[in-house]
Amino acid sequence: MRVKRICCIGAGYVGGPTMAIIAQKNPSIAVTVVDINANRIAAWNDENLDNLPIYEPGLSEVVKEARGKNLFFSTAVDQAIEEADMIFISVNTPTKTYGVGKGMAADLKFIELCARQIARVSKSNKIVVEKSTLPVRTAEALKSILDNTGNGVNFQILSNPEFLAEGTAVNDLLNPDRVLIGGDIDHEKGKEAMQALVDVYASWVPKERILTTNIWSSELSKLTANAFLAQRVSSINALSELCEATGADDNEVAKAIGADSRIGSKFLQASVGFGGSCFQKDILNLVYISRSLGLAEVADYWEQVITMNDHQKDRFAKKMVSTMYNTVSGKQIALLGWAFKKDTNDTRESAAIYVADELLAEQAQLHVFDPKVQKQQILNDLKTLNTRSEEENANLVSIYNDPFKACEDVHAIAVMTEWDEFREYDWQKIYDQMMKPAFVFDGRNILDAKKLEAIGFSVFQIGKAN
Ligand code: NAD
Ligand code: UDX
Repeated sequence: MRVKRICCIGAGYVGGPTMAIIAQKNPSIAVTVVDINANRIAAWNDENLDNLPIYEPGLSEVVKEARGKNLFFSTAVDQAIEEADMIFISVNTPTKTYGVGKGMAADLKFIELCARQIARVSKSNKIVVEKSTLPVRTAEALKSILDNTGNGVNFQILSNPEFLAEGTAVNDLLNPDRVLIGGDIDHEKGKEAMQALVDVYASWVPKERILTTNIWSSELSKLTANAFLAQRVSSINALSELCEATGADDNEVAKAIGADSRIGSKFLQASVGFGGSCFQKDILNLVYISRSLGLAEVADYWEQVITMNDHQKDRFAKKMVSTMYNTVSGKQIALLGWAFKKDTNDTRESAAIYVADELLAEQAQLHVFDPKVQKQQILNDLKTLNTRSEEENANLVSIYNDPFKACEDVHAIAVMTEWDEFREYDWQKIYDQMMKPAFVFDGRNILDAKKLEAIGFSVFQIGKAN
């Protein structure tokens, strides 16, 4: 069977870019991305490509090429479901904030709503693809809902987790290390459905990179891939503290250990802590599943990755306060970067939010600059923490469009995101406008410390004896 019409439910960081590439690479397939968020859909349809709801290098060019030809963004969810022969579910699966599993388990209410809607609307056979990251065995629940509430049509369920990283989404989608497709490999209809999805990807992905597995392996691989990646960051961050205490240099150690081909050199950049919508959520979910299965040691093992990450954010903020004579009360501090990594406007779980909160608790006044994050987003992130009133946040935090203005008259600058442009600034000009002594806390190790020290700055970098 060849797929002619695809519907993707969820026009977010995954649904938008993934479907744009699928459409671009499969001109014969009509791809409709739907969402209940009308503002988001309007932004995807905006004439001005600078207004797309998410920022990803290279994305606007892909959207420009395919939109209106075979790529559509719409709020007409029922219609898109009804017309499609393959439906991707790419809705959010955040950590639960209520009830059993609060703070740990994945909240599957949006997934269940999608399943019920697909079942209600579908009048013909459909292949339903789990694109969202889900707890292992969710496909079983999906199948039960679809079969019990549907109109007697056949549903085949596939798992096709997404491995793109934000900031490099277009490149990751164009050149994936692998595409993973899990399905019912023991039955003919299951195999047909898997082949239909393999064919969609085979338009641009080499066949040997398209892996097919049973559905549970696919679901579990996604959670564990993120857990392994996050574990590497926590490992190098744990090492960074050891480096600071011993005089070893974490970049040098990372290079030395990464040269071992069994370890590998990627993902060994010490930082102020990992953020993003995936790592913490997926590990908490893995910990929850392990604990639910009675696997206490397995759960404790993975939970430590989060404990280490929380510690890293906390100790960075505390280091700032202790370096500035144990008080930042009333002091102005500039935060350069608010996004959880460079080349994205996404701020979910960004380390900057937590460091800012600790500094605000110490009565600091913050000046924030990020090249891509909007003012309202920064205030919303602080509001969500619920530490103080919106009014207090607005009084204590000023948001700037100009990095030099943000750094004027401040006692310290903290680099929270590794945006390339921060390396290129005229740091002499910044120094001249600052209070003295002028402190720089480089949470990403991107600045040239020797050059800054020669200008007169006091510099702290992660993983270096200071
Ligand atoms: P997102 O919040 O950016 O987008 C999800 C969208 O789904 C939202 O726009 C929301 O309005 C919409 N939605 C929710 N319920 C809906 C419904 N019933 N009908 C129509 N639309 C609905 O989330 P995201 O970052 O794109 O993540 C989606 C999934 O992909 C999550 O499970 C996540 O874990 C996974 N994932 C994310 C990334 C990433 O880098 N962000 C990478 C890999 C996997
Ligand atoms: C991650 C996974 O990489 C991706 O495969 C999955 O699909 C979604 O989750 P993402 O969260 O978008 O992607 O970005 P990633 O590049 O993994 O970075 C996550 C966080 O770790 C960022 O805050 C980043 O700054 C931090 N990080 C990453 C480090 O601190 N050091 C590193 O060496 C690498």
